[in-house]
Amino acid sequence: MLEVQNVRKHFRSGWLERRTVKAVDGVSFTIAPGCTLGLVGESGVGKSTVGRLVAGLLRPTAGSVCFEDLDVFRPGREKARYLRRKIQIVFQNPEGALNPRMRVGEILAEPLQVHRLVKGRYVKERVAGLLEMVGLGPEFYHRYPWEMSGGQNQRVAIARALSVEPSLLVLDEPTSALDVSVQAQILQLLKATQRRMKLCYLFISHDLDVIYHMADEIAIMHRGRLVEQGPAASVIINPRHSYTVQLLSAKPALPSAQTRNSRVLCFKPAFKQSTISTFKESVSKEETTVAQPGAYKLS
Ligand SMILES: Nc1ncnc2c1ncn2[C@@H]1O[C@H](COP(=O)(O)OP(=O)(O)OP(=O)(O)O)[C@@H](O)[C@H]1O
Ligand SMILES: [Mg+2]
Repeated sequence: MLEVQNVRKHFRSGWLERRTVKAVDGVSFTIAPGCTLGLVGESGVGKSTVGRLVAGLLRPTAGSVCFEDLDVFRPGREKARYLRRKIQIVFQNPEGALNPRMRVGEILAEPLQVHRLVKGRYVKERVAGLLEMVGLGPEFYHRYPWEMSGGQNQRVAIARALSVEPSLLVLDEPTSALDVSVQAQILQLLKATQRRMKLCYLFISHDLDVIYHMADEIAIMHRGRLVEQGPAASVIINPRHSYTVQLLSAKPALPSAQTRNSRVLCFKPAFKQSTISTFKESVSKEETTVAQPGAYKLS
């Protein structure tokens, strides 16, 4: 579905002294339909730049981004509109991404009208459906972004991205600005939505726990390049690159491959308990298997 080939983005910076920042320096990956690629790395390695390139917000210095075999940067006039709808991006800071002068109802109605997806009289109904989908009641219709919490704002930002029936969501640190319990709720919402709408995610984060629980494949980014990529369990449990080992050693124990798919978290008890307990509420019973001794069982 998404194919990124040898993409580079170099920024010119410096006023007196012309310098080139190689934010992205030859990155390639693919994402299959309905799958999540987790892009992880330290601050400043170029993750958001990759996200913006994929979403078509930045032009690459070199390389190509193809979505459903369409070149994102040369789609032709007819397909440009289609791509703007099919690839959506959700940012880390929802307050900054939502217009503070617009009420939630207007924020969600706008993309429906721009893309002419729903006839005028049905817009309100569709907006109510979107609010319900992201777990917000009808009373939020008349609220302004500054009258809501960070988690509620992020739900609105997700609803706005989903309103145009996208196929690919670029999620750039969508939960980093939220506290751990709200973080777990938003992650659960994203997982459920992906299953329901068969969405493809490029999930960007510096948090290996979040990436591990969200992604099918993980790509490790360092200084503008991908140093390692592969199935989530193999990258985390058998890392091959020294930088991945370094990232993993900078955090507490991760669950084993066996426990990952069975949704059993075996972090140390002191580690992110609130995330675990909120996951506990929302993970269905069928997905749960017997926990190992000392592990947290999600049932
Ligand atoms: N518009 C720009 N002009 C110049 N340099 C830029 C621009 N955008 C990003 N950069 C630089 O590119 C590099 C990568 O930035 P990017 O925002 O992609 O990092 P990141 O991995 O998302 O970091 P973080 O985890 O802190 O969000 C940084 O050195 C940044 O200063
Ligand atoms: Mg970033």
